[in-house]
Amino acid sequence: MKILGIETSCDETSCAVVENGTHVLSNVIFSQIPLHAKTGGVVPEVAAREHVVKIIPVLKKALKDAKISLNEIDAIAATAGPGLLSSLLVGTVTANTLALFLNKPIVPVNHIEGHIYSNWLGTEDEIKHETWNNSSPQFPILVLTVSGGHNEIYLMRGHMDFKLIGETRDDAAGEAFDKVARLLGLPYPGGPSVMRAAMHGDKNRFKFPRAIMNDGTFDFSFSGIKTAVLYFIEKEKRAGRKLTRKFVCDTAASFQEAVIDALAVKFTTAVKKYNVKEAHLAGGVSANIALRERIVKMLETDVVFRYPKKIEYCTDNAAMIASAGYFKYKLSPKKFRADYIEAKAEF
Ligand code: KG4
Ligand code: ZN
Repeated sequence: MKILGIETSCDETSCAVVENGTHVLSNVIFSQIPLHAKTGGVVPEVAAREHVVKIIPVLKKALKDAKISLNEIDAIAATAGPGLLSSLLVGTVTANTLALFLNKPIVPVNHIEGHIYSNWLGTEDEIKHETWNNSSPQFPILVLTVSGGHNEIYLMRGHMDFKLIGETRDDAAGEAFDKVARLLGLPYPGGPSVMRAAMHGDKNRFKFPRAIMNDGTFDFSFSGIKTAVLYFIEKEKRAGRKLTRKFVCDTAASFQEAVIDALAVKFTTAVKKYNVKEAHLAGGVSANIALRERIVKMLETDVVFRYPKKIEYCTDNAAMIASAGYFKYKLSPKKFRADYIEAKAEF
């Protein structure tokens, strides 16, 4: 079954064709990063206008790359929320129009559900690649989703069966990465810039507060670390000190270390408690190499650890939406006809 996925929840216009929820036939992503780099963050109105311009060219390329015509698509899956409303509308209106004219089922997908399913994705070659665990994920699974807008731990006992185990009480880790990058004068988007700077820095030079709350929950908190870095940098500037390259790299590394500590300790403790077969990392921050390495070190060896096979499956993309759409459709096909979807979160 071939699903056309559409994702426009934030600043990536993406369309993809995925077969049976796992095999990526195409995954076209038009990133608006250069556009938003000028303002250092996403301006919703600007993002939505760009989606309008790019959605049809991106759709055409996704079909061309997958070597199929629109009529060969079996169903359409689109991100319904959460996200920027004006951006979501572009994807959902496109999906509704296609479903109406093609008379194909339409499946609304929650953006976080999509990120979770990024661990099922791969091209034929990636799935065959021997360095990867080829078997499909086995339940029960504990998933840590970390992005710019969300930061949660879910227990999955089956497809589309999500139990919330922990969540952030304030900011998501990705948001803290973005803010700290801005404070350090590192380029947008912040996460990859901080990670690169951290590779050249001393993670033990500065001590930032760990948001590890020993409160018996699996909740997170990142606003304290963010504010601590802000005060720390302001103090340096007030003292007349320049933000040298060494200072920036050491601060990036020390900040990243504090965030990783909080994420890895809570997640690996939850993995033990729920006695799951697999531990998955998903969302934009799953691209962070130091975070992956730390979790690998802390996990029990009999737990299978997965993160998306490619960076483009970590950050926003339509292949993950098509995958989640497939598993949702398979559970109750009769529920999804060529009807309309609303641009809203349904989770
Ligand atoms: O999933 P995503 O593309 O969008 C949301 O749903 O929010 O995640 C974007 C977030 C941004 O905050 C970005 O800075 C962060 O993921 N990110 C990273 C890395 N790559 C992206 N954070 C840390 N290290 C990275 N390598
Ligand atoms: Zn996302």
